[in-house]
Amino acid sequence: MAKQHRGRERRTGRSGQATAEQAQVKTSGAGRSKSSAGWLDEHFSDPYVKQSQIDGYRSRASYKLLELNERDRLFRPGQVVLDLGAAPGGWSQVAAQLVGDAGMVVASDILPMDAVAGVRFVQGDFTDNDVYAAIVDALEGRPADLVISDMAPNMSGMAAIDQPAAMYLAELALDMAQQVLKPGGTLVAKVFQGEGFDAVLQACRQQFRRVVTRKPEASRARSREVYLVAQDLKQGPE
Ligand SMILES: C[S@@+](CC[C@H](N)C(=O)[O-])C[C@H]1O[C@@H](n2cnc3c(N)ncnc32)[C@H](O)[C@@H]1O
Repeated sequence: MAKQHRGRERRTGRSGQATAEQAQVKTSGAGRSKSSAGWLDEHFSDPYVKQSQIDGYRSRASYKLLELNERDRLFRPGQVVLDLGAAPGGWSQVAAQLVGDAGMVVASDILPMDAVAGVRFVQGDFTDNDVYAAIVDALEGRPADLVISDMAPNMSGMAAIDQPAAMYLAELALDMAQQVLKPGGTLVAKVFQGEGFDAVLQACRQQFRRVVTRKPEASRARSREVYLVAQDLKQGPE
């Protein structure tokens, strides 16, 4: 089951510090650090944070996925969806709502996640082969319609470390998509503009017939994050 590139030397995983967005805050503004009080102020005045509290979503990230769905028509009732980098669960909530009771959502994260109704959760480091295998098992042999990855490593603030770590997760998400998606399936993957981005984009273009890069409104402008929406997985070499 393990694919060739999963045998590559493991890179440093993550262990629960700053998120990508927080790291961007710390390093923006000519290298000045914002105080955590400043970050909290910004967080709680953010319209998407406010809306997520009203709508009952666990994270503002839900609105990125909703926006991508509106643009690219990702979800349909009854689909099988794999959500990578799922905690705290904002994307899983959206996925479960949109696929409905006839659908299936498997979610995974290195961090624990409170249960989301209708979502099967696998906890562990996605760069581990055992975790990869556990995720595949959780799908119970059902080919997936959609793989959505919002994974982002802990950001150290050092681009030479953060960018390769982020792109590695994106490569692994693409690898998983190739393993579990049905022909015609879709991958949505968070990537960061910078070194390695073009290589992942190219790899997606080889595997999928339609690939676009999206920057949802809900994604902070200062963040280098964008989403690759790769649709219509090819059946084999064309
Ligand atoms: C931006 S957050 C995801 C937010 C989520 N999509 C939501 O809507 O609530 C990125 C997630 O990637 C996860 N992550 C980072 N590295 C990981 C790894 N090696 N294995 C599994 N999850 C990882 C983090 O723990 C974090 O929860």
